[in-house]
Amino acid sequence: MAKSRGEFSSTFGFVMAAAGSAIGLGNIWGFPTQTAQNGGAAFVLVYLVLAFFIGYPLLMAEFVIGRHARSNPVGAYRSIAGGKTFVPAGYFGIIVAGLILSFYSILAGWMVAHAVEPFFKLIGADHLAAWVVDQSNITRNILFTSLFYVLTIGIIIGGVKSGIEKWSSRLMPTLIFMMILLTIYVLTLDGASDGLEVYLLPDFNKITDPQLILSALGQSFFSLSLGVGTMLVYGSYIANKENLVYLGVFVTLADIAIAFLAGLLIIPAMYVAANAGTEIFDPAGNLISGPTLVFQVLPELFNSMGPVGIPVALVFFVLMSIAALTSSISMLEVPVSYAVDTRNLQRQHSTWVIGGVFWIISIILVANFETLFGMVVSFTTQYSQPLLGLIICIFIGWVMNRNSILEELKKGSPTVADSIFMKVWPVFVKVISPLLIILVFLQSLNVF
Ligand code: PHE
Repeated sequence: MAKSRGEFSSTFGFVMAAAGSAIGLGNIWGFPTQTAQNGGAAFVLVYLVLAFFIGYPLLMAEFVIGRHARSNPVGAYRSIAGGKTFVPAGYFGIIVAGLILSFYSILAGWMVAHAVEPFFKLIGADHLAAWVVDQSNITRNILFTSLFYVLTIGIIIGGVKSGIEKWSSRLMPTLIFMMILLTIYVLTLDGASDGLEVYLLPDFNKITDPQLILSALGQSFFSLSLGVGTMLVYGSYIANKENLVYLGVFVTLADIAIAFLAGLLIIPAMYVAANAGTEIFDPAGNLISGPTLVFQVLPELFNSMGPVGIPVALVFFVLMSIAALTSSISMLEVPVSYAVDTRNLQRQHSTWVIGGVFWIISIILVANFETLFGMVVSFTTQYSQPLLGLIICIFIGWVMNRNSILEELKKGSPTVADSIFMKVWPVFVKVISPLLIILVFLQSLNVF
C-alpha cells in the first residue's frame, strides 16, 4: 500500500469529480444525436430506465470494490479474496482507459481549437481563424491534441485533492452555468420549437426496437464511465464516512440531467440552423450526427447569427472543452493510480511518462485517422467496456464475500442492510445486469 494515496476532502468535491468524469462529450454530443436518430423521447425513456437499472448498479459495484480495496483495479483484484484470477482484467481495464484517453484527446483538441477561433476572429486574424478550424490539417490536430494533454497532465500531477477535486469543483459549476444560459438563448431562436418537438414527443413505435435499446445501453455505459476502472479508482478515494448509495444516486442523476439538458440545447439548435438554411439531414434522410454536426452544422449556425455568434460559439466550445477535460483527467488517473499504488512510483514522473505514452498513441491515431480512429473507438467502447463491466458484475455478484460488501456499504450508511437497496441491488449485479450486458455484447458482434 502506498504512503498517502490522497482522498476527496468533501462530498461536494467528490460529486463534482465523479460527475465531471461521467459528464463529457458522450453526454453533450453523443446523447442528443442518438436521441434524435432513435425516436426522440422514446430513446430518452429507455435510456433513463437503463441508466438506473444497469448503469447505477455497476457504478455502485465499482465504488464498493474501489473503496474496499483502496486501490486501482489491479491492486484491488490482488488484495480482495478470490480476486487473483481477475487481475488480468484489471490490467486490461487500465490499458483500455488509456486508449479511450488517446482517441478522446483528439476530439477534445478539436473542441479547444474551435474555442480559440472566436479570439482570432475578434482580432481580425482571419487566416489563423481559418487554420485552427481546418479539420484535415495534421499539424493543427497534433498541436491541439498536445495542448489538451498538457492540461490533463497538469491537473493529474496535482493529485486527488489539489488536482482532480480542485479543478472539478471549479470547472463543473462553470460548465453547468454556461450550458443553462446557452440553452435558454437557443430556445428563444426561430425554429427551436421544431427541434423541441422532435426531442420531446416520443415515437413509441421505436420503443421496442432492439437497436434502440442496445444503443441506449451502450450510451449509458460510456456516459457513466463504466468498466474501465475510472469509477473504481475515484471510489477508492472516497472517505469512509460517505454514503456510497447516495453518492451513486447523485452521480447518476447528474449525468442523466446534463445529457437531458444537452438534448434541449443541441436538437433545437439543429432546427434553428435548418431554419437559417443549413442542411441538417444526410442524403439518407437521417439527422446529421458525429463530427459533421458539431464542427459543421453548429459553426454554420453561429456564423449565421452575425456578431452575437462569436460569443455564442466561444461559450459553446469552451463548455465542450471543459466537459472533455474533467473526463480525460479521470481516464489518465486510472493508469497513474496503478503506478503510484501498486508500483510505488512517484506521481509526478509517472503522470508525465504515462501521459507521454498515450500522447504518442494519439499522434499515431491523428496521422492514420481514416484507418485507425474508428477501430480504436469501437474496440474500446463497444467491445471492451461491456466486457469489462460484465467481469466486474461477475466479481462482485458471485466472487466477492457478501459480508465484506455489506461492511463496506455500512460505513457511511449504518442501516443499509435493511434498505430496499440491499434487496434489489444484489439481484441486479448478479443476474440482470450481466444478462443485459451479454445482450449488448452480442449485438456489437452483430449476432442479431
Ligand atoms: N463519460 C465520459 C463521457 O461521457 C467518457 C468516459 C468514458 C470517461 C470512460 C471515462 C471513462 O464523455
